[in-house]
Amino acid sequence: MTDSLETFLVTGASSGIGLGTVRVLAGQGKAVVMISRGSGPGAEVAETLRRETGNPNLHHLPADLSSLSEVRRAAAEFNERFGRLDVLVNNAGAFFGERKTTADGFEMTFALNHLSYFLLTHLVLEKLLQSPAPRIVNVASRAESFGRIHLDDPMLSRGYSGWKAYGQSKLANVMFTYQLARLLAETPVTVNALHPGTVATGFGSGEGVASRVLKLARPFFKTPAQGAQTVVYLAASPSVAGVSGRYFIDQKPASSSARSHDRAAQGRLWRTTSELVGLGETEAAPLRLVVPEQERVNL
Ligand SMILES: NC(=O)c1ccc[n+]([C@@H]2O[C@H](COP(=O)([O-])OP(=O)(O)OC[C@H]3O[C@@H](n4cnc5c(N)ncnc54)[C@H](OP(=O)(O)O)[C@@H]3O)[C@@H](O)[C@H]2O)c1
Repeated sequence: MTDSLETFLVTGASSGIGLGTVRVLAGQGKAVVMISRGSGPGAEVAETLRRETGNPNLHHLPADLSSLSEVRRAAAEFNERFGRLDVLVNNAGAFFGERKTTADGFEMTFALNHLSYFLLTHLVLEKLLQSPAPRIVNVASRAESFGRIHLDDPMLSRGYSGWKAYGQSKLANVMFTYQLARLLAETPVTVNALHPGTVATGFGSGEGVASRVLKLARPFFKTPAQGAQTVVYLAASPSVAGVSGRYFIDQKPASSSARSHDRAAQGRLWRTTSELVGLGETEAAPLRLVVPEQERVNL
């Protein structure tokens, strides 16, 4: 892959909103690295897209992002194999009706939907900082509005429900976005979050009441192509060049919950997340080097 091409790294790119996003970017001739699990259809999807679009610069990078060691391995492989990164789209996420734990022993929703966004972003930041116009796009959800961060029990070992876990993780996405945008304010990197709409994807396709309700309502949802529109807008549109620290719905700035704007809570979440992922000195260094003086206390 040539380093002269703008390069996008999209997680959860094998289906749904991520795939809708890659399809548009591929059609525009961008270079795209697509992360999804090796056990899923990612490699085949990348091959089909290369054929459909005639764009040879689409690569599948298999990784299970619910596992911290897999996030680290995938980031190292990306940094080694690809010469540049212009846009990171943190999108891989899911809803789990029943509580599950990851290889690291973390609650699955928190690990996949939040810890992976946080860790992957840190690990590719150095490369992003070399781009002339870098962007980070975090796919969140309107579910942030009913989310609460349970810092005393983020893994919800007591009183788990799928929506409680999902709301927490999506609120965490928005809080992470706002804080990271402030930490990167003196760099060209922009950071925004979005709600893609209610989209007919593989989302919530498991068992349980919530999944059955989602299935019944599916005909009224957006298509994955429609669900990808705000992601593509934030990732590639010149209209949002330089715009940072915002939350978007339907390609327009929107308000997120009052809780998401609580800076002290953002700081607490940041520190807890750093500890949970075991963020090392070297991993934290690219960000620490560019953080404005007045924001250092929040790290
Ligand atoms: N659909 C909606 O209505 C809706 C609404 C608001 C927000 N969102 C958000 O949109 C994002 C995308 O969801 P979607 O609706 O497009 O869901 P989806 O169709 O189920 O796609 C999820 C993607 O994530 C990947 N993925 C799942 N587990 C993974 C893991 N452990 N490691 C790596 N990749 C993994 C899947 O690939 P493999 O299975 O191949 O690994 C797939 O590519 C999520 O963050 C979700 O919270 C969706």
